[in-house]
Amino acid sequence: MAEPFSVAPVPAAVPAPADVLVSIAIAGDLHDQWDGSDHSLIDLIRPDALLLVGDLSDGSSRIPSLLRRLETPLACVLGNHDTGRDASGGKLARQLDLLGDRHCGWGLRELRPPGLAIVGARPGSAGGGYHQSPAVRAVYGPVSLHESADRITRAALAADPTLPLVLLAHCGPSGLGSGPADPCGRDWKKPACDWGDLDLALAIRQIGRQRPVPLVVFGHMHHQLRRHQGERLSWCQDRAGTLYLNTACVPRHGVDSEGRRLRHLSWVCLRNGRPERLSHRWYGCDGQLLYEQMLWQAVVPSRC
Ligand SMILES: [Fe+2]
Repeated sequence: MAEPFSVAPVPAAVPAPADVLVSIAIAGDLHDQWDGSDHSLIDLIRPDALLLVGDLSDGSSRIPSLLRRLETPLACVLGNHDTGRDASGGKLARQLDLLGDRHCGWGLRELRPPGLAIVGARPGSAGGGYHQSPAVRAVYGPVSLHESADRITRAALAADPTLPLVLLAHCGPSGLGSGPADPCGRDWKKPACDWGDLDLALAIRQIGRQRPVPLVVFGHMHHQLRRHQGERLSWCQDRAGTLYLNTACVPRHGVDSEGRRLRHLSWVCLRNGRPERLSHRWYGCDGQLLYEQMLWQAVVPSRC
């Protein structure tokens, strides 16, 4: 007997590949606030990767020595304070020696696991467009704005294209606003202006022509504004979809009203290589997440 209507064969169900989740903890400007309690915390909460945006201290080797003992995959770029006002570059060079390939200024560091391509921007930046301090020049030689941008771009384009790309900088790029509370706005001196780095902004444009730049993390411009101007806006997103995260919560060690010791970390969750959530977190030293300020969350499409 003929079928009353034709029935298309139902394809066998193909299981969806499991989502790949990656958590990234970012320690903003440390200014010497990193010790055994931070290591214990990282061991307790186990982010998939740890990034440090520089200004570890004022030129001391203590923290680079400590970071060598951490097993969590990490990447770091040094900041302006890390030169220790040593124009010879000696203090900077000593820290670079200790950090080894954990430092990725002007270079690429692929973290496997968890599968991240971290590209460092210009080391030792103090923001303000483009300026190389004597210490940075002593260690790296003179580097022009365009050469700096090209170094960052080359490192990003050399990265495995299947890995999510994260740009790691001490100071963020120019172009994120010129008000005192903008992510890279100058708040300590009038008039307020855009204090971001021109070479990093140029590099982001150059890289963006070849591959997506999902995330740029940086510090230097502290969250607490000077002269009682309130709090800085610590994130933004551009028209290309790139997310910018200022992680400079200073001081990052604190105590809450109940006397509990707090440790600040900025936190990024990636799902299948794309940012899903950005937040600032304050942990207790026992690993308990005590406070979280949600900054941004992806709109998750309905599965219905
Ligand atoms: Fe700084």
